Amino acid sequence: MSNSTIESFKKRRSIYHLGKNLPVSKEVVTNTIKEAVKFAPSAFNSQSARVIILYGDESKKLWAIVMQVLKAMVPSDKFSETEQKINSFDAGAGTALFFEDMSVIKGLQDQMPSYAANFALWSHHGTGITQYAVWTALANIGIGASLQHYGNLIEEQVKTTWNLPSSWSLIAQMPFGSIETPAGEKEFSPIEERVKVIG
Ligand SMILES: Cc1cc2nc3c(=O)[nH]c(=O)nc-3n(C[C@H](O)[C@H](O)[C@H](O)COP(=O)(O)O)c2cc1C
Repeated sequence: MSNSTIESFKKRRSIYHLGKNLPVSKEVVTNTIKEAVKFAPSAFNSQSARVIILYGDESKKLWAIVMQVLKAMVPSDKFSETEQKINSFDAGAGTALFFEDMSVIKGLQDQMPSYAANFALWSHHGTGITQYAVWTALANIGIGASLQHYGNLIEEQVKTTWNLPSSWSLIAQMPFGSIETPAGEKEFSPIEERVKVIG
């Protein structure tokens, strides 16, 4: 039995060798991301996910920020490896930045104090689901992407550069582009050990 959703799940991989030759137009990419974000579920339908899509030079600006911050942190004899990695993200066509709007989370905490402690956790579940939806939807239109986490190092500079609300918390960065080299074989733990059937 074929299931197109499962087929899309299988297509999604971490793609590190990216290029700028998108197989579809920028508009199709943008709409695909919008639809994935729109239809991803969130706790109490709070829709706290925020996404900024950077294309071209704006994406390059992001990776220049990351490069500059890491250069100040990574020992110089180890920097060439870091540089190569950041250059591989920079080589893509764009980057999607995933945020959570903490003012939405705060609103929920104030509204439902008995659940207050859970909202931060659910916000992270929600952003993870949103990221996966975008990643998978991009894979389905032949676009490669990976998931990166430099948020704590670059958040303030990102917000200043693109004039973003202070309540937005930067969670993840997803560089995307054409798939220049597909992902290698992936190892899987036995699924029977991970999923049990009872009854
Ligand atoms: C929550 C989460 C965090 C991740 N963080 C990173 C990351 O910071 N950098 C990175 O290169 N890959 C990151 N990955 C990608 C995983 O390493 C990758 O998904 C995993 O090895 C399986 O490979 P696949 O994506 O090709 O299926 C992350 C994945 C998840 C789900």
